[in-house]
Amino acid sequence: MVNQPTGKKAIQTTLHVTATAPSNIALIKYWGKSDASLNWPANDSLSMTLSQAKTTTTANVQPDAKTPDAHRMAFKTTGAGTIPVRDLGKTTRYLEWLRNEVRPFGSAEGALDILTHNSFPSSCGIASSASGFAALTIAAAAAWTGTKNLDELHRLGITQDILSAWARRGSGSACRSIHGGFVHWVRGEAPTAQKVSAVFSPDHWPLADLIVLIDRGAKSISSTEGHARAFTSPLMNVRMAGLGERLKDAAQAIEMRDLERLGTIIESEAIEMHSVMMTSHPRTDYFSAPTIAFIRWLRESRAAGNLAAWFTLDAGPNPHVICRPQDAAAINAMILDKFPGSTTIHDQTGFGATLQTSQETSTRHQGDSDGY
Ligand code: DP6
Repeated sequence: MVNQPTGKKAIQTTLHVTATAPSNIALIKYWGKSDASLNWPANDSLSMTLSQAKTTTTANVQPDAKTPDAHRMAFKTTGAGTIPVRDLGKTTRYLEWLRNEVRPFGSAEGALDILTHNSFPSSCGIASSASGFAALTIAAAAAWTGTKNLDELHRLGITQDILSAWARRGSGSACRSIHGGFVHWVRGEAPTAQKVSAVFSPDHWPLADLIVLIDRGAKSISSTEGHARAFTSPLMNVRMAGLGERLKDAAQAIEMRDLERLGTIIESEAIEMHSVMMTSHPRTDYFSAPTIAFIRWLRESRAAGNLAAWFTLDAGPNPHVICRPQDAAAINAMILDKFPGSTTIHDQTGFGATLQTSQETSTRHQGDSDGY
């Protein structure tokens, strides 16, 4: 904050550091962990970063907090204004872990004021933890170290690799949201040997993702709990044995921009992950009747030559439909016509997380209550 007295008035300039992180859709899924406390996945995964579904987070160090962990967090919603978050348990634990990681790179003192906003409605089938933890990680690191953009963070030694590894501890899939385009999260032979990188840029092959909100019921079980059950499924070992080949195949299809090949792979992959979920103990069933009706319709329409689109599903009932951008509007209209109760979010391949600073200037009269 910079105060410049000008006669009886003072100009007060406040810097707001804002991180924006995109959501991502997994083409080859992360399901099951080798070490849950470190979010060390059982297998490699491959995702496409999105551009419309994103989280924007501003963090500032509170000048007057009573204790360093008295973080305050609020959600900016579309329509209902700003809502304070009351249960900060998981976020506070993560921020205290993050503080120790950030400290060697500079300062990490003070409690944070955090304001966060999702561009997509909550419980709409887009996981907010991926974009949410990616944006929170960057915003908190920037606020504590007093940096204004990603270049400055990188100059301190907080590289993309480090940001990605930190975000992963908040939620596994968040590590992929730091990067843009098509992102490979390599499991590695040890938790410390994981690697996350963009293997193809968004310009290599822009694809559309129509997120079809066909069932708005609350998620029956969190993905963190679902991961913990994965290895109770008799199908899990079969899945693990074939995943390396499938990921290689998917990466090749992306390299060659072969949508039919990629589409066939991602549908098998989504069905396989959901088969593991359904055969876990206790069973985790994210499919609903509308999900099945949608899949049937999509496959029949494709077989009849009416559309070139393929689905994938995360830990929920709402399908993501992957197609060419030039076909998206027509396919969207077909979906809304066939499933009139549903809504869609039209997304596409996007770039990675960003960090920006904006400046707010206000004029204060001398003698105003905060007494500078
Ligand atoms: C089905 O990243 O949400 O979307 O690490 O426990 O926070 P935690 O799980 P999370 O799991 C994502 C599961 C998935 C597949 C994927 O995104 O790869």
